[in-house]
Amino acid sequence: MGDRVVEIKKGLEDVFVLETKISSIDGIKGILEYRGFNIHDLLHLSYDAVSYLLIHGKIPDEKEISAYSHQLKKDRGIPEEMIRVLHTCNFNIEAMDALRTEVSYMAHCDPDMNDNSYDGNIRKGTRLISKFPTIVAAFHRIRNNQEIVAPDPHLSHGANFLYMLRGTRPGELEAELIEADFILSAEHELNTSTFSTRVTASTLSDLHSAIISGLSTLKGPLHGGARMAVMEMLDEISVPEHAEEHVLNLISNKQRVMGFGHRVYKTYDPRAKISKELAKKIAEEKHEQKWYEIAQNIENTVNRELVEKRGKPIYPNVDFYAAVIYRYLEITPQLATSVFAIGRVSGWIAHILEQYADNRLIRPRAKFVR
Ligand code: CMC
Repeated sequence: MGDRVVEIKKGLEDVFVLETKISSIDGIKGILEYRGFNIHDLLHLSYDAVSYLLIHGKIPDEKEISAYSHQLKKDRGIPEEMIRVLHTCNFNIEAMDALRTEVSYMAHCDPDMNDNSYDGNIRKGTRLISKFPTIVAAFHRIRNNQEIVAPDPHLSHGANFLYMLRGTRPGELEAELIEADFILSAEHELNTSTFSTRVTASTLSDLHSAIISGLSTLKGPLHGGARMAVMEMLDEISVPEHAEEHVLNLISNKQRVMGFGHRVYKTYDPRAKISKELAKKIAEEKHEQKWYEIAQNIENTVNRELVEKRGKPIYPNVDFYAAVIYRYLEITPQLATSVFAIGRVSGWIAHILEQYADNRLIRPRAKFVR
């Protein structure tokens, strides 16, 4: 058996392992579609509507979105025992670790814990989408010795998150930006964390367990953790004039420039294109060009050194300008990956449901070598 000739694709590059109706990527043309809709055309919708589209496969009509948003708003609060768990966390951890612990604990409190039917999973999934922002904001405030802010049912998913995090209502552009960030983060075909949720679901384990797999996988710096790494790089560079030298040092030391490169896109990531425009807009509104200028200088240097001189397709990915936007929204690096998870959870739920609907255990092979 060990002598069998098999082709091994390290990192499963370009390996197709399943069919999905949830999203598609054209990595050459730089196109991303959710359920057949180009992401550019979804930005006018609310995150609620986009999460409905991902999970239910259609853009909701007025009656559907009104019922769904009502339920999401109703589920936003977290019980006292979940708040107690947050108080027991080590405050030096990333919010992502607290979120993972809370999802694990939340499973114990969920009235549908032992119901793995489609309807039970929809109810559990809706609660997860609703409560992610509340958990992240509450952990941030507890860690900073501040009172927790209760959710405001008059605010959208994104605006309410910023409100619970900062204690004041966000401006119109800030609310637009965080909503767009959640939409752009929501889904991305068979990215590593989504794959891990499907692997877990394929054993017929429960929804919360699959989501915990997703959170654990998203956290790594080669995946969603890149968002935190970009924020730390922006801080380290601190003035636009130092960006070029910083990037040249990384390249000469054969280190990665975080927020650049992608397994599938060999062109500009369409999400980064949108986030870049939004980052420019907020920099102008806040009369604070520094972070945007640092980002531009990083991008220009990577483009000159890696794309033009070495012919490598290393362009900004979704995490790069998202991190710049977070700087302007007063989202700290320790929060960055968990904010990504707030957006991504609806994509995970859609994939877990798709896996359950036509399941076969995911179990690849490894070739034994001496
Ligand atoms: N900076 C410098 N060089 C890079 C980078 C980068 N960010 N990314 C890839 N390369 C180079 C790499 O050194 C290699 O060069 P060579 O062929 O000369 O050895 C070549 O490009 C191919 O790299 P690879 O590691 O084989 O590519 P991959 O498809 O396995 O990796 C990646 C994809 C995302 C892990 C990688 O681009 C990377 O490490 N980027 C930085 C971390 C990051 O931003 N991650 C977020 C990914 S996208 C959004 C998300 O999932 O959250």
